Amino acid sequence: MNQNPYSTALLAWYQANARDLPWRRSDASAWSILVSEIMLQQTPVARVLPAWEAWLQRWPAPADLAAEPPGEAVRMWNRLGYPRRALNLHASACAIVERHGGEVPSTYPELRALPGVGAYTAAAVASFAFGGRHAILDTNVRRVLARAHTGVQYPPKAPTRSETELAESLLPADAAVAARWGVAIMELGALVCTARSPACADCPIASQCAWRLAGKPAHDGPPRRA
Ligand code: ADE
Repeated sequence: MNQNPYSTALLAWYQANARDLPWRRSDASAWSILVSEIMLQQTPVARVLPAWEAWLQRWPAPADLAAEPPGEAVRMWNRLGYPRRALNLHASACAIVERHGGEVPSTYPELRALPGVGAYTAAAVASFAFGGRHAILDTNVRRVLARAHTGVQYPPKAPTRSETELAESLLPADAAVAARWGVAIMELGALVCTARSPACADCPIASQCAWRLAGKPAHDGPPRRA
């Protein structure tokens, strides 16, 4: 087993409550998962859904996108904002074709080396697409960990070494379980342990949450949105 005191409760909650998002389905390709994670970096799920469908319809594999000029990627990106991400995806598609025979690579270092793929995205794709055992620290996960473990309302502004160590220490030993656990804690942050109005009554780990047990002390400083 692992050091994680609440993985069973969290996994059961995820099973019953998770949103059915297309990039989480078992038949989602690694490319479609990479595209989803790049789109979701700065854009909410509801706006990503139609853009993701259209993108994959037009470019179902990295080679399809690499065969077109970068301007087409920007045009297709449309209103998602931060269009540099479209150029990065195009450059990633080219690198995948040139360096990896057109297949999205499966390891963290190879993913991290792609344009626009940072630590979070590399860990997310290695975990969700390939079942690798990686700690996934997005804003939602960082907030859940701050509350459940550190007993504070919000995480530090920038990710710290101790957050990574905590997230790694919580990872279930089995890689496939760890991947599901990673998306489950992300979903808990998105749906229940939200930034401004956490629904503690619906939270599967409320009985072990350090912040709740301390009486939910308010954050010291200006209000945070995430
Ligand atoms: N499922 C997998 N990755 C996700 C993300 N970044 N945001 C929301 N849901 C996700």
